[in-house]
Amino acid sequence: MIRDVVGIIGWPVDKSLSPIMHQHAFKALGLSSWCYVPMPVAPHPPGRIEQAVLGLRALGFRGANVTAPYKEAVIPHMDAMSERAQVIGAINTIAIDDQGQLVGHNTDGEGFIRDLRERRVKIDGASVLILGAGGASRAIAHGLLSRGLTSLFIANRTKGKALKMRERFHDLSAEANIDVVDLDELASRGTSSFDLIVNTTGDGIFCWLSRRDVKFLPHQLIYDLSYAVKEPTEILKLAARGGSKTLSGLGMLLHQGALSFEIWTNKQAPLDAMRKAIGLDQP
Ligand code: ATR
Repeated sequence: MIRDVVGIIGWPVDKSLSPIMHQHAFKALGLSSWCYVPMPVAPHPPGRIEQAVLGLRALGFRGANVTAPYKEAVIPHMDAMSERAQVIGAINTIAIDDQGQLVGHNTDGEGFIRDLRERRVKIDGASVLILGAGGASRAIAHGLLSRGLTSLFIANRTKGKALKMRERFHDLSAEANIDVVDLDELASRGTSSFDLIVNTTGDGIFCWLSRRDVKFLPHQLIYDLSYAVKEPTEILKLAARGGSKTLSGLGMLLHQGALSFEIWTNKQAPLDAMRKAIGLDQP
């Protein structure tokens, strides 16, 4: 009998691979009381996200994943937050305990780092550029800085947001050097010196990259947090044309999901079953 329900809150969620990934994980471990459901929450009329989050408690859910555009919007409705989620300022996982307390976590940055580690990507001494300064960018920056990266470049359309992000991370890594530029400044500076470029803006930035005729190079690894199910994202196609190595967000999806799974079930996530469910090759 289904007793332990979790799911994903976002808009839209119909292309999310999380439901199939977690369902396979439950099956692999024989957790027949668990179930993972998509929960699309429309942004209009306003206030629906609050109703949805509080509804999780009312309905006896065990937790949820949270995706765009609600990773920040759910924060005020938590009873507590992990320290990491507080520093990042975004939540991708909610756990609900037996007393109905909602605790917000963020597993995105750690999921990203685990994917890099599994693929033997070295970050020590690497020159890293993150495109974007939203919740996903903050999670990636947190992961990299807490693994000892000492120098980081952030480029964002709205420079003020990237400057705020730098302030936020000052305490986490006071000795790290974080450079912040807007996109015009990035274009003047060029991108050829970076070893690892992480895109957190979706395909949004692709028009800008094409307009500025940005080329990626063979010594670079381009990591796009998005994943397109049928073919590579536009940015990864551009990167492949330049001979760069490419990684899609599927690996990070796997590992952030595995960490969420472990928070909810207290059991080690069956990585191979989850990998197979989302069509991700062994590293
Ligand atoms: P997420 O949680 O996925 O990070 P977010 O917090 O809304 O989502 O952040 C989206 C990021 O993508 C922002 O840095 C945004 O830039 P702004 O801060 O200027 O809004 C960036 N972004 C979105 N669409 C973009 C586009 N068309 N061109 C460049 N950057 C874009």
